[in-house]
Amino acid sequence: MEFHGLRQDYNGRELVEANCPAEPIVLFRTWFEEAIATKASDMNAMVLSTASLDGWPSGRVVLLKELDHGFVWYSNYDSNKGKDIMANPRASLTFWWEAFSRQVRLRGFVEKVAPEHSDAYFYSRPLGSRAGAIASAQSKQIESREVLENRYSELLSKQESELKRPENWGGYRLIPDYFEFWQGRESRMHDRIFYKREVDNSWEIGRLSP
Ligand SMILES: Cc1cc2nc3c(=O)[nH]c(=O)nc-3n(C[C@H](O)[C@H](O)[C@H](O)COP(=O)(O)O)c2cc1C
Repeated sequence: MEFHGLRQDYNGRELVEANCPAEPIVLFRTWFEEAIATKASDMNAMVLSTASLDGWPSGRVVLLKELDHGFVWYSNYDSNKGKDIMANPRASLTFWWEAFSRQVRLRGFVEKVAPEHSDAYFYSRPLGSRAGAIASAQSKQIESREVLENRYSELLSKQESELKRPENWGGYRLIPDYFEFWQGRESRMHDRIFYKREVDNSWEIGRLSP
């Protein structure tokens, strides 16, 4: 099986230095809002890449839930990604918005959000999602689906006040120090603009060859 014939010419958009704001987060918000406005599903999906201490990379999709001075998602702290982050807090996020032929990659250090912050999000979720988060020992092997379903049903039969946020479930925030914005263009002449954080927290802006 080969895919040599699958060829897409990206056109119609450009990313030029003259239109690049001084702060990458401003450009990110513009692109993100344009993606969200399409109302297509999972526009906040991003690939989170981590690496274990012994150098093995792992990528998986998570959902961007908040954007402040960093990029926030929620997960299980004891999951495989949680173990990677604990041992090595360097990580990267990758977004791909097909409708605009745009990719954004960013890189930085990951921290846990404050417990009250995780509480606020956890208790804003529907009961079913709360029970699901409690029921799942994410990334651990289980004997069968039935075991998971039984645990879930048992939780749902409890009082709402008993569905507390587990201490090992909460938010992570990646504080970016590097961004790359990729705008697909015709004939593989794509635009690639990077932002690199300087020691004074200003951003160097430059162009990469596609
Ligand atoms: C569209 C989509 C959204 C997802 N969102 C999340 C999320 O926000 N948090 C999360 O922990 N896992 C999410 N997952 C599941 C992860 O991709 C992954 O299976 C899980 O986090 C376990 O990864 P790990 O074993 O590497 O820790 C999502 C998967 C998909 C396909």
